Amino acid sequence: MLLVDSVSKSFGGFLAVNQVSFEVKQGEILGLIGPNGSGKSTLFNLISGTYKPTGGTVRFEQRDITNLPPDRICHLGIARTFQIPRPFKKLSLLENVVLSAYFGDDALRSEAEARRRAEQALETVGLPTDAGVSVQSLGAAGLKKLELARALSTQPRLLLADESLGGLDHQEMEQAADMLHRIRSDLGITIVWVEHIMGVLMKVVDRVLVLDYGEKIAEGLPQAVATDPKVIEVYLGDQIALA
Ligand SMILES: Nc1ncnc2c1ncn2[C@@H]1O[C@H](COP(=O)(O)OP(=O)(O)O)[C@@H](O)[C@H]1O
Ligand SMILES: [Mg+2]
Repeated sequence: MLLVDSVSKSFGGFLAVNQVSFEVKQGEILGLIGPNGSGKSTLFNLISGTYKPTGGTVRFEQRDITNLPPDRICHLGIARTFQIPRPFKKLSLLENVVLSAYFGDDALRSEAEARRRAEQALETVGLPTDAGVSVQSLGAAGLKKLELARALSTQPRLLLADESLGGLDHQEMEQAADMLHRIRSDLGITIVWVEHIMGVLMKVVDRVLVLDYGEKIAEGLPQAVATDPKVIEVYLGDQIALA
């Protein structure tokens, strides 16, 4: 479904992503892990068109999307969430999602249909659909759900979830993991899930890819990756990430 081929990104002289290659198969949940600063969010920014790679190509469903702008990439069927939610604070919860539904699909012309899709997305993530609810009422977990609803409202085939469950308690983390699982099984959406904390992610994903200093250091089944000496070394001393 997605083919990332030798993609690199440098900021000035600093290589944030260094010749990373991998593919995502239709229907799978691929986990993307690695320590803070290892290039996970940058990789998402490269796939979704926020940044242009300094090298390499990205193909989605056979099409070269490497130099397409973010809105085109979204219209083709890739949605992403942001690690740091930035909703329109003066708009209601529902209005936030109506906007993403409306502008996330270039074939959509009806506000009523955008609203239907927004309500559906809010229901999927378990947020209220009534028009009056304000964004200000949401805590950390709610804001992450809103981020997910905005992405889902564009009706993607591939979801890039920059979840970062930091700030959530254990139960909230488990709920977030369950939700991604349901999004795949009920909506048939293929998912790449970025997460710093390994424990919760490992239970949900089919395969894992590990980044360190912008390079791919491991890829495979969760069990194999979790016992890979290189991966253990990278995560050693970081008990929070292993939890
Ligand atoms: N816009 C940017 N300008 C300069 N450096 C950046 C920029 N975005 C990310 N970086 C750097 O690239 C590296 C990878 O960052 P990031 O992809 O956010 O890591 P992760 O998501 O794995 O924590 C970090 O060292 C970060 O400081
Ligand atoms: Mg990140």
